[in-house]
Formats: sequence, C-alpha cells, structure tokens
Amino acid sequence: MIKIAVLGCGTVGSGVVKLLQQNSEIIAMRAGEPIQLKWVMDIDKDKCRALGIDESLITDQFADIVNDKEVDIVVELIGGIEPAFRFITDAMSQGKHIVTANKDLIAVKGKEIFAAAEANHVDFYFEASVAGGIPIIAPLKQSLAGNRIQQIIGILNGTTNYILTKMSREGRDFNDVLAEAQQLGYAESDPTADVEGLDAARKIAILSSIAFNSRVTLDDVYVEGISKITPEDIKYADELGFIIKLLAIGQERDGKVQTRVHPAFLPKNHPLAAVNDVYNAVFIKGDAVGEIMHFGRGAGQMPTASSVMGDIIEVVRNVRQHTNTRIGCTCYEEKPAYNIDCLEAQFYIRMTVTDRPGVLAGIAGVFGDHNVSLATVLQKTSQQNMAELILITHEVKEKDLRDSLIVLQEMPIVDKINNVIRLEGV
Ligand SMILES: NC(=O)c1ccc[n+]([C@@H]2O[C@H](COP(=O)([O-])OP(=O)(O)OC[C@H]3O[C@@H](n4cnc5c(N)ncnc54)[C@H](OP(=O)(O)O)[C@@H]3O)[C@@H](O)[C@H]2O)c1
Repeated sequence: MIKIAVLGCGTVGSGVVKLLQQNSEIIAMRAGEPIQLKWVMDIDKDKCRALGIDESLITDQFADIVNDKEVDIVVELIGGIEPAFRFITDAMSQGKHIVTANKDLIAVKGKEIFAAAEANHVDFYFEASVAGGIPIIAPLKQSLAGNRIQQIIGILNGTTNYILTKMSREGRDFNDVLAEAQQLGYAESDPTADVEGLDAARKIAILSSIAFNSRVTLDDVYVEGISKITPEDIKYADELGFIIKLLAIGQERDGKVQTRVHPAFLPKNHPLAAVNDVYNAVFIKGDAVGEIMHFGRGAGQMPTASSVMGDIIEVVRNVRQHTNTRIGCTCYEEKPAYNIDCLEAQFYIRMTVTDRPGVLAGIAGVFGDHNVSLATVLQKTSQQNMAELILITHEVKEKDLRDSLIVLQEMPIVDKINNVIRLEGV
C-alpha cells in the first residue's frame, strides 16, 4: 500500500481526492497496488472536510506530513513559489517523491528542485503544470525521445483562447469579452498573467527546456499579450485568410533556443486554427515523427486531476520496481537564448495614413531602405483625408522591421501605426 499526502484542498487538490475515490480500483490495478490517502492539508481545513474525508486525515500543519515516515508521495497543489518550494524540498529531503501541477514554481525554481530530487533519489513529476489535462511532458520525455524536436507551437492559455474565439465569432472588443469571461469564471479578477501572456510563457519555458534539453526560464521568453488586439485586426485577418491566436512558440536555431509568446496570424487551414474556446493544444514538429498535435482541456478540476493521477501512478510503479529518478532533469546542455531581434518572420501592419497621391510610395520607400519588402498592400476606408493601410511583409528580420517603423512613426503622412502582428505557420 502506497501512502500519499495531498497539499491543498482547492480546485485541483479536491479533484485528485475525488478521482482517487471514484476510480480507486482501476488506479490500484494499474499502479500495481492500492494508493491510500494518508493526509490532506489546507490552511482552511473546512475545504478538506467538504470532501467527506475522515477528520483524522485532515491537517493544516505541513510538519504532520513531512515527519510521517509512512508518506511515500507528496502531491503539491497549493500553488505559488513559497512555501511550496520549501515544502517540496523538505519532503524530498525526507525521501518523499513529489507530484505537482505548479508551473510558476518550476519555471522559476526548476533547477534547484531537480537537483534536490537527484540528491535525494526521489521522483519529481509535473505533467499537470503544462496544458492541464493534455499529456505533453511524458510524451516529450518518453515517446518522442528519439526525435530532434524542431518546433513546438502551443495554445497554452484557455482564457486568452476563449477571449480571441469570442472576439472572432462575435466581432466584439477585448474589454467587453474579458468582462464577460470574468463573470463566467473563465478569467481571474486580475487577468494580467493570462492576457499579457505570462502564464503561457511559463508553460513554453517548461516545454522548451524539455524539448531542446537546455534550461529556459521565464526571463528568456519574449512575451506580448492580447490586450492590443482589436476587432479591426480580427476582421482583416479573416479577410486575408487568417485567424488570430495567442501562440507560445519554442524552436531551436543555430544552436540557440528561441521562445516567444505573442498573438499571431495563423492560416485558417493550420491545425491549431481549429482550437477554440477554452481548449488548449500543442503542435510539435520532430525530425522523425513529423507533425503531431495534442489537444484537450488545458485546465479545470478533473482534467488537471487526470494528469496529476497519471503521475502518481507512474511514481508508484517506480517505487515498486525500485527505479526512482529514472527520468530526471533533461537539461543536458546549455544553449543561449535567441534574441527576438534576430527573428525572421512575416508581419501584418495596420496603419492610418494621409490619403493623397504619393503616400504609399513614400512608405514603401522607407520599408525598402530597411530591407523590408511587402507581399500584400490593402487600402481601406478613406475618411477625412485619412486611409487605413493593411500591409503584409515578406519574411524579414524583426530588427529591420522595428527600425523602419521608428522612421515611419515620425513621418507627417503617418498618423498612427495601429498594430503589428507576426504571421506564423505560413
Ligand atoms: N485550476 C486549474 O485548472 C489548474 C490547472 C493546471 C495547473 N494548476 C495548478 O495547480 C495548483 C493548484 O491550483 P488550484 O486551482 O487548485 O488552486 P486553489 O484552488 O487556489 O487551491 C489551492 C489551495 O491551497 C491552499 N493553500 C495555499 N497556501 C497554502 C499553505 N501554505 N498551506 C496550506 N494550504 C495552502 C489554498 O488556500 P487559500 O485559498 O486560502 O489560499 C487553496 O485552498 C497551482 O499550482 C496551479 O497553477 C491549476
């Protein structure tokens, strides 16, 4: 009998306890032996009581768990950096294996936690930390281990995907849809981490570290959110055959790892373009497997509990075979981060300009001076002597495009550069 302690009786912790109760027989069969809940812990013990658990299993003291020699696995589901980091490393030092869903902690303290796991010969599993219920870490570490991964593109944040889906379908603006998402519980009261891309950035840092075997931290990821996307951008994207998605991208180039999160124009026929509402997906290109996509629920109580339970079962199997730390840290190399300035991409640019002859030639001239060539030029609604220009560039260097925009911004014929969005998957 393997004994586990669950830290946190919140959304995911409660889901894990429920799943253990609901599927105990099949879980025991697959793990090789029954899994017994020894402790559940929360600051608010009433949250644990609501799960119908025996009072003797409920605590608000981590000391009860870390000092209990019978506890084999600690399942950390309180979230945040501290005290989660201390709880995990203290438990490891007592020989306890760890399962967590805590992306914030891994993205910041991954190196120290892996070192502690190795030093203490314990397992550290974190499937639920990226894309909730979608299996992606285990596939990368195991099934795809024979591949050189070329690129990962993820839709890794359900809140932003929900907002962009609604904006696309209903022509509504960002703030309006965000307010509705908050009312429905799809967005936090402080939505910054989601809408400004930081949540997705933590996840792509974790996936890229595994895929490219080099530690990527949050600071390495270039991040732009979706708050600047307007109904006009969505309308023009549609007209040009694209859909706008917040993409989290990791790729290796010239021995460097490039990670970025930003909204992008994605062709409507790209597999990720069909990923809507709160769903997540991860699209991977490997040199042997080719293109594959994992799709599902990136958050939520039971989908996330599904990933946590899969990890718990895997640890139990390892314990039974005395083979813990079989798959430890996969950051075997140290590859530098690739600066966004060096990115080569196509761009969409929407700008308001004076509507008179010669203006377009002047703008094209500035782009030409900076090695930016244009693939598509559309001129839209002319009012009060102003016109909206919609431009798609050929593949150009990000730095060249930015330099050209600095010059254009200063020109009297340019009223405003409204938006600049990268194209992906073309
Ligand atoms: N929810 C999801 O869909 C989802 C998906 C993927 C990954 N995750 C990750 O899973 C983890 C848990 O998320 P969640 O949504 O379940 O969070 P949650 O609902 O806030 O649950 C966390 C629980 O832990 C309690 N807690 C916090 N600090 C504690 C401490 N020091 N000692 C004891 N209890 C403490 C919290 O109490 P208070 O409320 O009083 O602080 C809360 O009851 C996070 O790392 C999150 O990023 C969540």
